[in-house]
Amino acid sequence: MKGAFAMHPDVESILLSETQIQERVREMGAEISRDYEGKELLLISVLKGSVVFMSDLMRAVSFPVKLDFLAVSSYGLGNKTSGVVKILKDLDQSVEGKNLLIVEDILDSGMTLSYIKDLMEGRHPASVEICTLLDKPERRAPGVDVRCRYTGFTIPDAFVVGYGLDYAEKYRNFPYIGVLSPRMYG
Ligand code: IMP
Ligand code: MG
Repeated sequence: MKGAFAMHPDVESILLSETQIQERVREMGAEISRDYEGKELLLISVLKGSVVFMSDLMRAVSFPVKLDFLAVSSYGLGNKTSGVVKILKDLDQSVEGKNLLIVEDILDSGMTLSYIKDLMEGRHPASVEICTLLDKPERRAPGVDVRCRYTGFTIPDAFVVGYGLDYAEKYRNFPYIGVLSPRMYG
């Protein structure tokens, strides 16, 4: 087992250990359980980054929830998101009259989540809230104001991988969240 948990050489430092993440996700699940008790809840996982978080979070909720998936791509220049978001895979169901919780891996410029939230609100649900594992507030684009009801961790401006987060589609499987070594960007 040791190999999977030891720090990989592409990672500069571990920002959040597997234990820290698991503890926080359990707390978030308990909070969601209290807030939505007696209501129907549809969890919306934004592919692919949120799948690891989603799979742990949903098992920390104490009542039956429903699950759906949305895949988007943001068109950006270099490492900047442009705010133009394309739906690659839409939800399988109508969200009209439902309580929605959008589950995301990370809030960066905020453009992706603000687009998704507006899109969902336009479909007349009963409520729409956001649950993000990570938030990098320093990176927020000017004029973008995204309110998250649940935030796992507020982190500094560094490029992180693991626990669903990727760089060029790699590292999603790491059980911890680490700062990617800058030599990997080349
Ligand atoms: P936003 O629209 O700029 O908020 O973009 C959010 C998306 O950018 C996330 O869903 C991630 O896919 C990606 N992203 C932003 N920061 C990081 C990071 O540090 N590591 C990995 N992916 C990131
Ligand atoms: Mg990504």
